[in-house]
Amino acid sequence: MTKEAQIGVIGSGAMGTGIAQVAAMAGHNVVLYDNNTAALEKAKTGLSATFQKLQEKGKIESAAELLSRFSFAATTQTFAGCSLIIEAIVEKLEVKKNVFGEVEQVVGGDCILASNTSSLSITSIAAACSKPERVMGLHFFNPAPLMALVEIIPAIQTEPGLIAIARELMLQWGKLPVLAKDTPGFIVNRIARPFYGEAIRIYEEGIAGIGAIDKVMTEKGGFRMGPFTLMDYIGHDVNYVVTETVFQAFFYDPRYKPSFSQKRLLEAGWLGRKTGRGFYNYAQNAAVTDNITDMNTAGHTMERILAMLINEAVDALYLGVATVADIETAMTKGVNYPKGLLQWCDDWGASNCLAVLDGLYEKYHEDRYRASPLLRKHAAGNKKFV
Ligand SMILES: NC(=O)c1ccc[n+]([C@@H]2O[C@H](COP(=O)([O-])OP(=O)(O)OC[C@H]3O[C@@H](n4cnc5c(N)ncnc54)[C@H](O)[C@@H]3O)[C@@H](O)[C@H]2O)c1
Repeated sequence: MTKEAQIGVIGSGAMGTGIAQVAAMAGHNVVLYDNNTAALEKAKTGLSATFQKLQEKGKIESAAELLSRFSFAATTQTFAGCSLIIEAIVEKLEVKKNVFGEVEQVVGGDCILASNTSSLSITSIAAACSKPERVMGLHFFNPAPLMALVEIIPAIQTEPGLIAIARELMLQWGKLPVLAKDTPGFIVNRIARPFYGEAIRIYEEGIAGIGAIDKVMTEKGGFRMGPFTLMDYIGHDVNYVVTETVFQAFFYDPRYKPSFSQKRLLEAGWLGRKTGRGFYNYAQNAAVTDNITDMNTAGHTMERILAMLINEAVDALYLGVATVADIETAMTKGVNYPKGLLQWCDDWGASNCLAVLDGLYEKYHEDRYRASPLLRKHAAGNKKFV
């Protein structure tokens, strides 16, 4: 696809506006559509301010020229000349299906239709279209202009040739594309679940407090943010809903079980940083006094969360969700983990990781802690992943 190809974006919220910016900065003309005119106005003002700042910093030549590549549209009719449409609207399957059906009436026969969904099945979105073979997932990360990772997700109906076209285009846009099987959460939102879920479980069991767990994961683990700080930052409306969707989509596999602690925060409207309160109370400068002084507890907390994360990465590899290289790229570039989880497993030793999981399984007798057969195989054979 050349720069002359016109790109359409559905939804001018956080993700749609970011994706539209990336496409325009890669040289395309972009049609940005939203059914809410206030959201469209906000996107226009936001993009204008962003381009102005980039011009002042000398990163682009002309903010006005970049803005002139945009058409802001309140109807889908303007998508007629587009070669690729990327949808980034509300995370509701029925709404997405309706919009795809509507857009398909307008676009040409070879226009590619992509969804930026975080957790819905691409296959089920494709099934709503009369040409499901042109539908795929293109999953960007927030903020789209800054995060390099893009997960490419073919539906089972997708014409295989579209994968190479998407990969080539994402490289032209300066992105790092990885290929993911159409399974719940794709790569990042599947493998990252224990970072939140296991941390909450440790907290709910009273093993360690939120401040202590965050401290261990940043200071000992090297993660940029601890799980509770990160959940508050993402927002519980987003993070909890992804967890719940992934849990349901995995046929209620206990590995992905949501927690009451987080559900209650959502119900209370304590959505995190954006509402001033989540796990932390930002009115009190998020001051937390609990600290792990017992180094055994600190070490075990870190090992427990890490073992669960590695197990997810290994199991995703085992089940063919993605390749070793793509799993490593996804976790280091999509959620900025300090090290790829498969590399981490090699460094720690598959048998050490397995011993932690088997210890948890022994303690709780819960399926949640079952080790991936591939981890067991690597531990037995003293094998490396990377
Ligand atoms: N926010 C994230 O961190 C993130 C990251 C990756 C993917 N996603 C996914 O991207 C999508 C959008 O997320 P967001 O955070 O940008 O949401 P958002 O709420 O910021 O924006 C959604 C926009 O879609 C518009 N919209 C809703 N229904 C519409 C319809 N029927 N037709 C046209 N426009 C409609 C809304 O007016 C709104 O402007 C979701 O599928 C989400 O799962 C979000």
